[in-house]
Amino acid sequence: MKDETSSFSARLKANAAAVEALLTKLLGPAVFADEIARPENLLGAMRHGVLNGGKRLRPFLVAESAALLGGGAEAGLRIGAALECVHCYSLVHDDLPAMDDDDVRRGKPTVHIAFDEATAILAGDSLLTFAFDIIAAPETALSDRQKTELVLALARAAGHGGMAGGQALDLAAEKNAPDEKGIVMLQAMKTGALIRFACEAGAIIAGAGAEDRRRMRAFGEKIGLAFQLADDLLDLTADAEAMGKATGKDAARGKGTLVALHGQSWAERELEKLVVEAEDLLEPYGARSTILAEAARFIANRRS
Ligand code: IPE
Ligand code: IPE
Ligand code: MG
Ligand code: MG
Ligand code: MG
Repeated sequence: MKDETSSFSARLKANAAAVEALLTKLLGPAVFADEIARPENLLGAMRHGVLNGGKRLRPFLVAESAALLGGGAEAGLRIGAALECVHCYSLVHDDLPAMDDDDVRRGKPTVHIAFDEATAILAGDSLLTFAFDIIAAPETALSDRQKTELVLALARAAGHGGMAGGQALDLAAEKNAPDEKGIVMLQAMKTGALIRFACEAGAIIAGAGAEDRRRMRAFGEKIGLAFQLADDLLDLTADAEAMGKATGKDAARGKGTLVALHGQSWAERELEKLVVEAEDLLEPYGARSTILAEAARFIANRRS
């Protein structure tokens, strides 16, 4: 167990370093073909929003689910980097005064504090767009069909029927508290959809069949729910320093969370249940899926 855990954190760290190296290169000052110029201030804000720490869990899930099903590592890394751009954009906008109004993210000033609001909005827009550039670019060694499938799946996961839609429901929930079903749906959208995409993307990259794709998607849905439940629990129990962001805000803002509805010990039991259900979905893959099972447990038990 000890060895497995250390190999898990070593792999998470190694993948994070590879993702950061790739994004550092892609977000450099040199223009790509058909770009006209990269305004220095905007590029600086994009880099601030992306290259500022972060657990890089979503790219890790892409890499490991691709590896499980025999997908190429290089393609997995690029799709993971693309997804991380969407995730970071969602955080830049989530922190804006019009949304959660947060000043600290990943232990550093948020983009609208370090730059300004308009720049933070544009940095988010640019990161979202850039994600699709990374997927479609010739450097991504996948077939056109695979790229189209990834673009479609990411668009559906990130847009009004996924993450952005979930953010809209999350803000509406501050005014009218949803019931349990409503909370589960909004969380499946605002957080679950990108995590589900991470796992399903692995299957697409590997050219896996429908059954593997369905299974990875279901696994992603489970750990996506666990992810936001843990985030809501940590908002209640962890300190801002460990989290690198303000805590104790959900209750103050009247956020519709399951922790608010059912309390801490219910949430802890529910997290354990979700991890077991996620592990069960990996059963057909046997020992090869140990690392993904560990990722599920890490997501539920994380301290930051
Ligand atoms: C935070 O995501 C936002 C949520 C969806 C709850 P992470 O906890 O993955 O944040 P980083 O990327 O590690 O900073
Ligand atoms: C954010 O949820 C989800 C997205 C950014 C899509 P939260 O608002 O709970 O995330 P944190 O706690 O600010 O990281
Ligand atoms: Mg929010
Ligand atoms: Mg927030
Ligand atoms: Mg939160």
